[in-house]
Amino acid sequence: MSTGQANYGQSTHGLRGDYSRMRADYTVEQDYSAYGPEQHDRWLRLYKRQIELVPGRACDEYLSALHSLPYAKGIPRFDAVNAPLGKATRWRLVAVPGLVPDLVFFEHLANRRFPVTCWIREEHEFSYIVEPDVFHDFFGHVPMLFDPVFADYMQAYGRGGVKAHALGALQWLSRLYWYTVEFGLIRTAQGLRNYGAGILSSPGEVEYAISSPKPRRVLFDLRRIMRSRYRIDTYQETYFVIDAFQQLFDATEPDFTSLYDELRQLPDVAADAALPEDRLVS
Ligand code: PHE
Ligand code: FE
Repeated sequence: MSTGQANYGQSTHGLRGDYSRMRADYTVEQDYSAYGPEQHDRWLRLYKRQIELVPGRACDEYLSALHSLPYAKGIPRFDAVNAPLGKATRWRLVAVPGLVPDLVFFEHLANRRFPVTCWIREEHEFSYIVEPDVFHDFFGHVPMLFDPVFADYMQAYGRGGVKAHALGALQWLSRLYWYTVEFGLIRTAQGLRNYGAGILSSPGEVEYAISSPKPRRVLFDLRRIMRSRYRIDTYQETYFVIDAFQQLFDATEPDFTSLYDELRQLPDVAADAALPEDRLVS
């Protein structure tokens, strides 16, 4: 690409997104003028559909932040979100061309920076996309970063990622991210609610995750999560349920080094496995 304009539409190499003008930490400037009317319109339709679906299905922490965010006019500007986010939890969004290498991602989280993908999905991906795009990141992830406990958990996860990378333990640690940050459920006095970004940005799974009789809903168990494979191409077959965000933070506080050593000896568990020791949510 040499036109001097960011390219949020097509990919010019293997990875989707424009990686030709990024900094060493994979960040770029959001080129706001590169979004056309079609892309803002697609955002608005995604937003309007999903904002109707989250009340009563997302946790309150998520909803109160979501409703304060400047999302109703088109693809948001990073600056407009960073001002309130910085005030709330000292997190900051940085723009990235798409997926970034593991270690780069962890370093950002460890420094309270959340990488948000610039580009928006194509029309044929309107209801399901396997990669993060600007809608998934802003709508799914960003509201939870306003919660102080969850925000601290995300930073701790980033630090844990740097460490797991060095220990060759990413296959286990990444399952924790998947089953909490992306697909986590929380039990509240009002009933089950979603806090996982993968669920909250999905029109179908947002209802399925909390009410379908099909998936297993297992009470949060760190070791069980780390043993469990997952699928990226269907709704989840197993969800893990917490009672409070503090529980996430507390359960992940201990040094994982010996846990990883144990996990090296244990077989993985299938995404739809039923283990006798599972404590199910009734
Ligand atoms: N306590 C973990 C470790 O020592 C780090 C971590 C914290 C990982 C929070 C995930 C979430 O590796
Ligand atoms: Fe995500």
